Amino acid sequence: MDQIRIRGGKPLTGSIAIGGAKNAALPLMTAALLTDETLTLRNVPVLADITTLEHLLVQHGATITMVGAQSANERGHALALNAKRVVSTTAPYDLVRKMRASVLVLGPLLARCGEARVSLPGGCAIGTRPVDLHVKGMEKLGAKIELRQGYIEAQAPHGLRGAEIVFPMVSVGATENLLMAASLAEGETVLINAAREPEIVDLAVCLNKMGAQISGAGNERIVITGVKKLHGAEHSVVPDRIETGTYLMAAAITGGDVELLGARYDLVAAVAKSLEGAGVEAIETATGLRVRRSNGRLTGIDVMTEPFPGFPTDLQAQMMALMSTAEGASMITETIFENRFMHVPELCRMGANINVHGASAMVRGVAHLNGAPVMATDLRASVSLVLAGLAAEGETIVNRIYHLDRGYERLEEKLAACGADIERLSDE
Ligand code: UD1
Repeated sequence: MDQIRIRGGKPLTGSIAIGGAKNAALPLMTAALLTDETLTLRNVPVLADITTLEHLLVQHGATITMVGAQSANERGHALALNAKRVVSTTAPYDLVRKMRASVLVLGPLLARCGEARVSLPGGCAIGTRPVDLHVKGMEKLGAKIELRQGYIEAQAPHGLRGAEIVFPMVSVGATENLLMAASLAEGETVLINAAREPEIVDLAVCLNKMGAQISGAGNERIVITGVKKLHGAEHSVVPDRIETGTYLMAAAITGGDVELLGARYDLVAAVAKSLEGAGVEAIETATGLRVRRSNGRLTGIDVMTEPFPGFPTDLQAQMMALMSTAEGASMITETIFENRFMHVPELCRMGANINVHGASAMVRGVAHLNGAPVMATDLRASVSLVLAGLAAEGETIVNRIYHLDRGYERLEEKLAACGADIERLSDE
């Protein structure tokens, strides 16, 4: 299995291009199942999770081709997705278990074909992560659902009907699944306590380009007036705010000075504000965001993860690596997922001083981290170990980096181009 070797202590300087958001691209790709016409997506990141979803969509009957040149400020690739005929409404365990976001085919298949059979998902090992909100929402839209042998079996032979759906807790995936399903339902659907993440807004914008009638995306109340048919469209994926935040922290932890090209401040405002409190500046430039420390050592600050516009859970592990090297103490509280502190023992092996009490981790900053062999456990945990390695004295080897390839495009190349001593060790 590939490893990443880092020799720490080099400040990052230069620029890093931010790609399209994985978490926006995935639902956008599943939206292609809603129409028999072509959906063209630009700025799609080149990542293992995207390939996993491509395999699933092809299995449902979609054709996916890479198209045309990108414009100068776009990266990744452009995909043309066409689901003229849906040949299977089953999303099998073999494919779904690789990535939890596969459950997003449920809404589109059910709305377009009147049936769907979707394996219960696997994905990152960060807590139990149920899909009850997706299932209850589809039932509200009139679907009959049974859970049988590990599959969600959904039927709506006469189509879905609009309804009011009040989410008891904020869920990004359930909001996305229901947005897509309600777009082809009969009548009006109102989603209350909907997720407000930028990826939801991106999906709604694209669905509206496809002929949907959605208003209020980005607010906690979204209104969808169902239409009979959706058509093809072209859409460019929003920049990745988690990749942006990760490199903000990579620059900060090494005491570097980096411009993140294509990054948008509004997508990371809460993160930038927290970092400001810790002594890191993130300033908007004409082409993105420039990040550097404002003066000397970092200061510990408290952070609590929350749904957008709060501090994202997907940056919690990276923030913890950063706070490990700050002066003073920092309390990091995880409110979205249980069991999302699996990076803690690994960071401690590198000399960090962290104690977990329930959903909070008390991080006492140390003067320096030490390189060590460490093990990645999930996508964001693995990148936190890379950040720690960039700042540590000596050599760090990160094992199980297939997690990183799920969500970070050319990570080691981007960091090496800014002066990091980092390389991938491939075993033949
Ligand atoms: C998405 C992101 C993920 C991010 C998360 C929270 C994608 C592909 N993934 O995941 O990177 O960490 O948002 O920002 O976009 N829950 C239930 N029942 C459900 C659904 C969710 O109880 O039916 C709970 C979850 O266990 C969790 C919380 O709700 O505690 C939030 O999960 P959710 O927002 O749904 O996360 P995902 O959409 O899976």
